[in-house]
Amino acid sequence: MKGKDTVFIREENIRYIVGSGQHTNSHIWESNGYLFQAPMTFYTQKGKWDLPPGFEDGNNTRFGRKIGLECMSCHNAYPEFVPGSENKFSLVKNGIDCERCHGPGSFHVKEKSAGILIDTAKYIDYSIVNPSKLPIDLQFDLCQRCHIQGNIVLNEGKSLFDFKPGMKLSEVMNVFMPVYKNNEEQHIMASHAERLKMSKCFLAVSKKEKSKSSEKILHPFKNGLTCITCHNPHVSVQKTDKTIFNAACGNCHQPGKDPLCTEKLEIRRKSNDNCISCHMPQHGASDIPHVSVHDHRIGIHKTVVDEPSKIREFVGIACINNSEASNQVKAQAYINYVEKFGMDKSLLDSALKYVNGESAITLEKNIHQLVQIAFLKGNSLLIANYVERIPNLLGILNKPSLENRDA
Ligand code: HEC
Ligand code: HEC
Ligand code: HEC
Ligand code: HEC
Ligand code: HEC
Ligand code: HEC
Repeated sequence: MKGKDTVFIREENIRYIVGSGQHTNSHIWESNGYLFQAPMTFYTQKGKWDLPPGFEDGNNTRFGRKIGLECMSCHNAYPEFVPGSENKFSLVKNGIDCERCHGPGSFHVKEKSAGILIDTAKYIDYSIVNPSKLPIDLQFDLCQRCHIQGNIVLNEGKSLFDFKPGMKLSEVMNVFMPVYKNNEEQHIMASHAERLKMSKCFLAVSKKEKSKSSEKILHPFKNGLTCITCHNPHVSVQKTDKTIFNAACGNCHQPGKDPLCTEKLEIRRKSNDNCISCHMPQHGASDIPHVSVHDHRIGIHKTVVDEPSKIREFVGIACINNSEASNQVKAQAYINYVEKFGMDKSLLDSALKYVNGESAITLEKNIHQLVQIAFLKGNSLLIANYVERIPNLLGILNKPSLENRDA
């Protein structure tokens, strides 16, 4: 406001734009290889410029929000990262490349260059991953590596680069989400996999499919309800023929097979009997302003208001991709909610239910979590106490990692 506030001008060149632009575009500027998010986002659905998500309510970090590996590991091909830094890159590629979904291609190229060809109309070519031939769980793991945006806790010794198509995601990371009461209809923008898995359609079908997973056919899981039942990632959803989606419903919901729609025909005809419009409604995401996405929980939805809700009750956290996450991983998830997501510090007590330093052995095992908890609680004496109890602390804290964990 002129006369009342300081007017401040700063200009930077935008080096990269993030996003297909269907919902929003974020902007990245660079200084000497260090990447930062610019404090401006274009919300394409409303044609409007505004602060990026997370910059509201007094959290405006201006030009200083670091773009580290986490953003990059979902929005791009794997870059070359300068270890020891938080956000310095020596090579940033332009876009999500083939290898993110098809795995490393060098062996495939070598085989094909040597003239070893496979008739893919008859056989599976094992020189490269074709996601459509993977078992249902592994197909999901591939897409949900990026399509579940939650609280990522890496397994001991793993980095954000270690997941490759065809692997189980839980071999590398555990993705947590907070669980709330009273908000069935709410979801964040990148939550497609989690929502789809809540559908009764998926639950019913995945049981059936699993029982015949030994079938040796070319598309072993064609009838499973995975992402690629409806999407071909090579084609933009904007360019996808809309009848494909309703046809997918018809695969199962047909007379004599799975249940048919019980809504009155005259009401359904008003929307051309577009199953999606009622059963996968489009509405606002609870984390990103000005965007709307399709709820991938196929089902009977109450009419929802296009606004994040008023009252919701936090009941705990859940690991989306690993029902057997270790206690240490669970503790780390609670710590992350406090440190990275700004949630209430009382959650540190929940973390302490999963890790303790009572004996020398548990102390050494859980030292990272215990120090972090004590640090966040501002209890430096406790940290000093831990240090005294571990004779060879520096000897343990010497593993370089991309996350700079020991630092
Ligand atoms: C490396 C991370 C990554 C993986 C793996 C990935 N996606 Fe995506 N996907 C994204 C991002 C990020 C976007 C948002 C668009 C953008 O920013 O370029 C996106 C967008 C999409 C879209 C919307 C495209 C559009 O036209 O707007 C669909 C559909 C999609 N992905 C399906 C899939 C499916 C199916 C799989 C699994 C076979 C998959 N994705 C695997 C990161 C990924
Ligand atoms: C766990 C993976 C993941 C992480 C981490 C992540 N994103 Fe995304 N992001 C996605 C996916 C998947 C979508 C697409 C969702 C959709 O189209 O509904 C998306 C959507 C977006 C979009 C809108 C894209 C479009 O097509 O309109 C922007 C911009 C964006 N993210 C920026 C960022 C930034 C900046 C960061 C880091 C602060 C970040 N994202 C971190 C997975 C991720
Ligand atoms: C976001 C994930 C994703 C990315 C990125 C991606 N693909 Fe695919 N690709 C798939 C999926 C899923 C299928 C299977 C589609 C189906 O069968 O419905 C596929 C199928 C294919 C096929 C067909 C294989 C066959 O047996 O018919 C080829 C060839 C292919 N991709 C090449 C590429 C190349 C080259 C790139 C990079 C330019 C690329 N893909 C990038 C997900 C991806
Ligand atoms: C039953 C069909 C179906 C399945 C299965 C499905 N989708 Fe979708 N998806 C849709 C429809 C319909 C849209 C909206 C298309 C449009 O905009 O016209 C959509 C849109 C999207 C978009 C664009 C953003 C949005 O929400 O509008 C992304 C990203 C996406 N899907 C990812 C996924 C992922 C990841 C999976 C697997 C976990 C998946 N989808 C499974 C039907 C499906
Ligand atoms: C692979 C098979 C399959 C596909 C594809 C499928 N469904 Fe279903 N769906 C089922 C089965 C089986 C049930 C019954 C589940 C039960 O009763 O436990 C069901 C249940 C439902 C229900 C009732 C859910 C509830 O909460 O009571 C709705 C609504 C529905 N499907 C709509 C759709 C729509 C719309 C599509 C397309 C976007 C679709 N389904 C795609 C198999 C499928
Ligand atoms: C105008 C909105 C609308 C359209 C379009 C629509 N449905 Fe429904 N559908 C509903 C409602 C509302 C219900 C719940 C009705 C009730 O309470 O009996 C329902 C119920 C269902 C059920 C559950 C049936 C059961 O036995 O519990 C299935 C399955 C279903 N729809 C599938 C479909 C499919 C497949 C399509 C596309 C061919 C479709 N619907 C089109 C609104 C719609």
